[in-house]
Amino acid sequence: MLEKMSDFFEARLDGYDEHMMTNIEYASEFYPFTAKQLPTAENCCILDLGCGTGLELQEYYKLNSSAKVTGIDLSQGMLTELQRKFVGKNITLILDSYFDVPLGENVFDAAVSVESLHHFTKEENISLYAKLHTALKENGYFILTDYFSLSDDEEKMHRQNLIALKTEQGITDDEFYHYDTPLTVKHEIEALLEAGFSNVEVLNHWGATYTVKAVK
Ligand SMILES: C[S@@+](CC[C@H](N)C(=O)[O-])C[C@H]1O[C@@H](n2cnc3c(N)ncnc32)[C@H](O)[C@@H]1O
Repeated sequence: MLEKMSDFFEARLDGYDEHMMTNIEYASEFYPFTAKQLPTAENCCILDLGCGTGLELQEYYKLNSSAKVTGIDLSQGMLTELQRKFVGKNITLILDSYFDVPLGENVFDAAVSVESLHHFTKEENISLYAKLHTALKENGYFILTDYFSLSDDEEKMHRQNLIALKTEQGITDDEFYHYDTPLTVKHEIEALLEAGFSNVEVLNHWGATYTVKAVK
């Protein structure tokens, strides 16, 4: 049965960090790698889209403990756990969908998102990335680490499966339901370029998990 996105993550909060670090292949490599790409300047402003319990921030704070982080997530449980882990850090948490939160103009030195954006269509991501592009400062950049479909056929299959499940379950609302529909890395890069990013490159990959850097 499909579950609404926030319900899905609320229900899996217990043991979430352990699950990610033991069952997600290469997690012990891609979280530190992702964190290493973020700015180390004192008091820099970082946006985390779908921050969850802050696994990427755990690594980042080892490199820059003074960063001012804004984290957006749909799940109150995940945000409560994040706050518990990082007492004393300069963090602003927003409980909402990153598609709906105004991000402002020239606010962030960099943005990051790990394992969150593989649920959306290319069109949905273009609208988010355009808003993100405006929110980044000059020379700001976005680091995306996520898993991707390895072919157009795989991408299409995930999307069709989601549509079939929604039809079967009589779901007609526009809310986000949890079902992984990763784009191919080629389509994700196209989305970032169409949203206005000037330079987009793959920095690394581990199987189907890639780290992509998009520069404003
Ligand atoms: C697999 S978790 C990853 C969390 C964290 N980045 C990590 O790597 O551990 C995906 C997170 O994205 C959040 N999420 C999914 N869709 C979202 C949306 N539209 N707006 C904000 N958060 C969202 C979920 O609530 C969940 O906490």
